[in-house]
Amino acid sequence: MDAISQDNRARWNALARANVEYSRPFLDFTREQAAEYIYRHGALKDVTGKNVLCLASGGGQDSVAFGLLGAKVTVLDLSDVQLERDRQGAAHHGLSVTTIQGDMRDLSVFLDNTFDIVWQVYSVNFVPSVESVFREVRRVLRPGGFYFVQFANPFVQAIDEDAWDGRAYPLSSFYVDGEDLAERFSHWDVAQPDGSKVKLASPHEFRHTLSTMLNTLAKEGFIFLGLWEWIRSDENPSPGSWAHVTQVSPPYLSTFWQLEG
Ligand SMILES: C[S@@+](CC[C@H](N)C(=O)[O-])C[C@H]1O[C@@H](n2cnc3c(N)ncnc32)[C@H](O)[C@@H]1O
Repeated sequence: MDAISQDNRARWNALARANVEYSRPFLDFTREQAAEYIYRHGALKDVTGKNVLCLASGGGQDSVAFGLLGAKVTVLDLSDVQLERDRQGAAHHGLSVTTIQGDMRDLSVFLDNTFDIVWQVYSVNFVPSVESVFREVRRVLRPGGFYFVQFANPFVQAIDEDAWDGRAYPLSSFYVDGEDLAERFSHWDVAQPDGSKVKLASPHEFRHTLSTMLNTLAKEGFIFLGLWEWIRSDENPSPGSWAHVTQVSPPYLSTFWQLEG
């Protein structure tokens, strides 16, 4: 584990202990909600009995959803606490899950062609470059298998909600591949149930340009199936808030790919 992953392991453990929204297991999820969630893109049809890797997607959300649909679920994540949430979610629903602590850039714990589906919610931006991740996903995925990968919209990733000037959010930084945004955004404010906020160190989070993302996936033999933009649709969020930023521009892009057969 390199210095970035060591930092991010500690920082994600702290965020999860503070119950950041990405760390709250889906304890009330039903099978119907799981089906709506997993099948919403129309790319996956029936995951019963499929070998699924939730890659750097700990926290007890996606693992629970796949488990409720009858998939055989493995979660690989860096954070001890995130993996604990997956075990908690599985135990709550009477499901089984395999949890492995590791770095998404090194999947050597898995044999070639192990998985039917690799499912990676927002996490690839926590490593400085994507090449090793996509190479490893290609290796552990069987030919014809599916890869879901969500990533930051690189055009709007560096927008600072506090920089609202009454009219717009300035795009003030250069468009640099591999830039570590934690150097500019040093803290996350994690909301607590009593309305207070806990300030915690940001995980290292890197910008990957669109050409880097798409061209690296294509080079590894992934065939593009579709792209979805996540955009908030609340009414009248206050300008200068994260809710407003994410209604003005989509912060996350989700993509589905299929490995050459
Ligand atoms: C935003 S969370 C994604 C999962 C979450 N359940 C969600 O709701 O989106 C990002 C995850 O990436 C994991 N992570 C960060 N860097 C990683 C790395 N190098 N290898 C594996 N996991 C990593 C973190 O521990 C965290 O669980």
